[in-house]
Amino acid sequence: MEIINGKEVAASIRLEIKDEINALISRGLKKPHLAAVLVGNDGASETYVSLKMKVCHEIGMDSTLVRLDESTTEAEMLEHVEKLNKNPNITGFIVQVPLPKHISEQKILEAIDPKKDVDGFHPVNVGRMVQGLPSLTPATPTGVVELIKRYSIPTAGKHCVIVGRSNIVGTPLALMLSRKSDPGNCTVTICHSRTKNLAEFTRKADIIVAALGIPGFLKADMVKKGAVVIDVGTTRVKSDQTKSGYRLKGDVDYDEVAPSCSYITPVPGGVGPMTIAILLKNTLKAATYEK
Ligand code: GUN
Repeated sequence: MEIINGKEVAASIRLEIKDEINALISRGLKKPHLAAVLVGNDGASETYVSLKMKVCHEIGMDSTLVRLDESTTEAEMLEHVEKLNKNPNITGFIVQVPLPKHISEQKILEAIDPKKDVDGFHPVNVGRMVQGLPSLTPATPTGVVELIKRYSIPTAGKHCVIVGRSNIVGTPLALMLSRKSDPGNCTVTICHSRTKNLAEFTRKADIIVAALGIPGFLKADMVKKGAVVIDVGTTRVKSDQTKSGYRLKGDVDYDEVAPSCSYITPVPGGVGPMTIAILLKNTLKAATYEK
């Protein structure tokens, strides 16, 4: 069994981006600049956004945090998005979700200029990805594909079972892994909350991706010997052993499942660090777009 070290892969991607930023600067080109909009005081969102800003700083990318009060109206939010769309210094930006209930996430998302949508959530980017056209793709599934690639895990002809059908992980990942590409060429099954006899599917899988958001969901008796197991779950659970009072728990019962796998991603240190690395890669890519 080999543990997929996402932390290490993400660190090398960050170094690659840093080199590319330096190359842009030496050619007199604009430095990428990521902005993040954070509304309200959600603890998890605060943690994620500050980590994104910190990593920008480490790799020499400019960053701006736009912090808005919980009471911000939808109309005000749309104005902020428009300002970022028009600001030539901002090459890409994200609006951290969840947003307060009185703001439509879909409306805000659709207001973002697709060329600055470094989360890859805009319907234009999703549509372009579906048709195999150049686009900004969502960070987490792109990060999963990148891990598979960098570990040279064979995918062609393999049966991949994805548990979870979210717009930001399960659905795009199913597309990415079934495409005629390498990695890709998988036969993909998507399982979800209404799937009957879910374990019968996972037990047949060569590659299992758990992306449903239920800590410890995937047990040893649901996994074939020698399977590749990718854990996308990152639920914050209370812990008295960490300074923050929380720790991250994956969707896979790691201790039970790991011994029978060929490869497995841990939580933390697996897919999580890749999400930020790919977001920065997208920001670098967006910086080269004509706006
Ligand atoms: N909330 C949780 N994950 C994400 C993400 O990848 N992007 C944004 N914008 N919000 C999130």
